[in-house]
Amino acid sequence: MTHSSTHRRRIVVLISGGGSNLQSFIDACADGSLNADIVAVISNKAGVKGLERAANVGIPNIILDHNSFESRGEFDQALGDVIESFSPDLIILAGFMRILTPHFVNRFLGQLMNIHPSLLPKYPGLHTHQRAIDAGDSEAGATVHFVTPELDGGPTIVQARVPVLKDDTAEILAGRILAFEHQIYPLAAEWFCQGLLELQDGDIIFDNQLLPAEGVSLEIRDKT
Ligand code: GAR
Repeated sequence: MTHSSTHRRRIVVLISGGGSNLQSFIDACADGSLNADIVAVISNKAGVKGLERAANVGIPNIILDHNSFESRGEFDQALGDVIESFSPDLIILAGFMRILTPHFVNRFLGQLMNIHPSLLPKYPGLHTHQRAIDAGDSEAGATVHFVTPELDGGPTIVQARVPVLKDDTAEILAGRILAFEHQIYPLAAEWFCQGLLELQDGDIIFDNQLLPAEGVSLEIRDKT
């Protein structure tokens, strides 16, 4: 895929919490490893640290509280309208803990990415780290994927794998995985911004080739 225009890509980031993944995007934009601008950060919760992270670097940050809407559909409609007002190329779900309606997903299909803290298709949903530990898995990880109407079910762009160690608690494992999330997520966004990545009929085309189900194969090391 080649982009017809050469404008700098515009990213909107959706959060619900601490926003450490958002921070990795802010840092990647600042150091030039991600050639894009974060044009807005939207949170469905007030008072979260991610909003502060955006404010600190002068990114417009918006609270859209889902509790002030009658239904999921109305919230998603309003959310979509706010997003659209920023004309983004890419929408990044970064710890955005809301299930999105198919209508919303289809409105932005091919422009919506999520990161999930498991090796999908294992452990969609919540409590992924504890579930990996309870199952006795020897490895765990995170998955960046395009969002489709099926919860945590969209095709994988890239995964990071980490070992599960003997004394891991869910918290320790989550921290180990998070360090890798911060590497693979801005990288996947950069691929998108370069025009290397496209969702086509439920499959991913990466650099003009059909991507296998496990996504881009990548050797990555913990920076810490
Ligand atoms: C991250 O671990 C992300 O993978 C996870 O929430 C955390 C957000 O952390 N997302 C999900 O569980 C989505 N289903 P952050 O707010 O520090 O980026």
